[in-house]
Amino acid sequence: MPESPTRVLVPAERIQARIRELGAAIDKDYPNGVLLVAILKGACFFLVDLARAITRPVRIDFIGISSYGKGKTSSGEVKLTKDLDTAIDGLDVLIVEDIVDSGITLSYLVGVLEQRRPSSLRIVALLDKPDRRLRPVDVAYVGFRIPDEFVVGYGLDYAEMYRNLADICVLEVPPGPVLG
Ligand code: IMP
Ligand code: MG
Repeated sequence: MPESPTRVLVPAERIQARIRELGAAIDKDYPNGVLLVAILKGACFFLVDLARAITRPVRIDFIGISSYGKGKTSSGEVKLTKDLDTAIDGLDVLIVEDIVDSGITLSYLVGVLEQRRPSSLRIVALLDKPDRRLRPVDVAYVGFRIPDEFVVGYGLDYAEMYRNLADICVLEVPPGPVLG
């Protein structure tokens, strides 16, 4: 068997405990409920657990944005690949993201959604790598601040792999060249 390419950074139990805390904070701040907008695909795992940790009325929607190629570095290009199904004017909207890295994705998305005049627009991110920031982003709720390492699991991928790991792990042994 080859050595595992991953090392656990945040174990599943800690992720779930932190999500319960985030849910309680969101309950307090949004007594009338909130629309959760998850960024495909990585944030879907977080969205599902977060939605269940909130007791106020929750609606969910999804938006697709691509800013990364198949590897570990940003292409710097951002485009909308799937729009919301919901009209958000007058709604309290919370963007749900897996990780904030350069901030390019979120600063683009906030710009796009602000134009639609939501009643409020904030961000909840499970992970934050503040050392990597290129664009300032105001993240209202952060699960964990982590060092500048490439992580996979709990929705996060490397070349579409590892999303199904229950823990958040550092990818230690970079896989060979990505095929296809
Ligand atoms: P940003 O636009 O540079 O902030 O990138 C945000 C997106 O890049 C996230 O939604 C992830 O999809 C991806 N990303 C950034 N860092 C990592 C990482 O360490 N592992 C996996 N994906 C990452
Ligand atoms: Mg993402």
